[in-house]
Amino acid sequence: MISIIVAIAQNQAIGKNNDLLWHLSADLKHFKELTSGNTVIMGKRTFFSLPVHPLPKRRNIVITDIPDEKIEGCEMAYSIDGAIKLCNPEETNYIIGGGSIYKQFLPFADKLEITWVYKDFDADTFFPIIDENEWKVAAQSEKMHDEKTGLDFAFFTYTRR
Ligand SMILES: NC(=O)c1ccc[n+]([C@@H]2O[C@H](COP(=O)([O-])OP(=O)(O)OC[C@H]3O[C@@H](n4cnc5c(N)ncnc54)[C@H](OP(=O)(O)O)[C@@H]3O)[C@@H](O)[C@H]2O)c1
Repeated sequence: MISIIVAIAQNQAIGKNNDLLWHLSADLKHFKELTSGNTVIMGKRTFFSLPVHPLPKRRNIVITDIPDEKIEGCEMAYSIDGAIKLCNPEETNYIIGGGSIYKQFLPFADKLEITWVYKDFDADTFFPIIDENEWKVAAQSEKMHDEKTGLDFAFFTYTRR
């Protein structure tokens, strides 16, 4: 199982200047709950943008174009295909970003775990439009409000039609 996990603004924005656009503690908790004990797969830019890396209690796979590059505590993949080959068929393998990795993995994903943030953001990194002919909503939370940031958000799970 390959599952994309991402938080997306109303205008598809996901990041700017190699950083996230918001800090929603409920979303971070949701991310930790889903990914802990599983494999997380990410591009090298996202890896180095994480405040703590590698992510603890998870198998970290980092994708880079640089041949033979190694990062301590991580397994390395040098292509999307290489990362897919490292996926564990017995667990959920979470694709955790960033923009370039999401785009390339979307055709291979079985599931999308999306946090929709109900506001437009100025950004340089975007998630592709989710094609409703390919994906259906399998579960969704109530709309929630984050007091600290003033943002409204909700968790959605999409599966393939
Ligand atoms: N909102 C969210 O949920 C969320 C989640 C994660 C990240 N983000 C945001 O996304 C942004 C980062 O995204 P990004 O697109 O700039 O970077 P990225 O996807 O994290 O990493 C890009 C790097 O991955 C490697 N790579 C990508 N495709 C490859 C391939 N096919 N084969 C081999 N290596 C490959 C390359 O590394 P090398 O340069 O080493 O070759 C490339 O420079 C940040 O703003 C971050 O905060 C948002």
